Amino acid sequence: MDNPSKKIYLIGFMGSGKTTLGKKLALQLGWTFIDLDKVIENRTGLKITEIFSSRGETFFRSAESDALRSLEGGQRIVVSTGGGTPCSDNNMNFMNETGLTIYLKLSPEKLYSRLAASTGGRPLLKDIAADELFDFIVKKLSEREKCYSKASWTINGESDSISGLVTQVKNWIQE
Ligand code: S3P
Repeated sequence: MDNPSKKIYLIGFMGSGKTTLGKKLALQLGWTFIDLDKVIENRTGLKITEIFSSRGETFFRSAESDALRSLEGGQRIVVSTGGGTPCSDNNMNFMNETGLTIYLKLSPEKLYSRLAASTGGRPLLKDIAADELFDFIVKKLSEREKCYSKASWTINGESDSISGLVTQVKNWIQE
């Protein structure tokens, strides 16, 4: 019997590659890909950077939670969430109740090497000095791991293959 729940939520820290993986996964499954940040931008008419600078993080978190709940039920979608999505407003429980959550896990060292190369456009990183970035990542990641660890599945973002994941997901769909 087909699993009635047809949403896959990719979660993980900024720079972990959720969008890249989500697009590939959606393509392989023939599902629709949705980037939650884009949903927020469409709903508010503002860019993520503008939301943070003009309305603040509290407003952003509320818009983010609303956007998450606005996604229609019954659709076959792969959702790439923001790095902070699972850690506010009971969002992790909401995602676990409405779909399959997959945590794309990377080490702080790997995240650092990616984020140091491009912090641009990420509001949470814009005021972090280069020599403080690694410590910031370690601290934020350890706080967020409490939420990320509630994911149904955890995959290794440095070594797990997309084909293995697609097979696993196909089995899950059949459950
Ligand atoms: C955020 C991550 C961003 C975006 C916003 C806040 C976070 O998404 O939602 O800037 O709190 O970690 P990505 O994880 O796609 O960079």
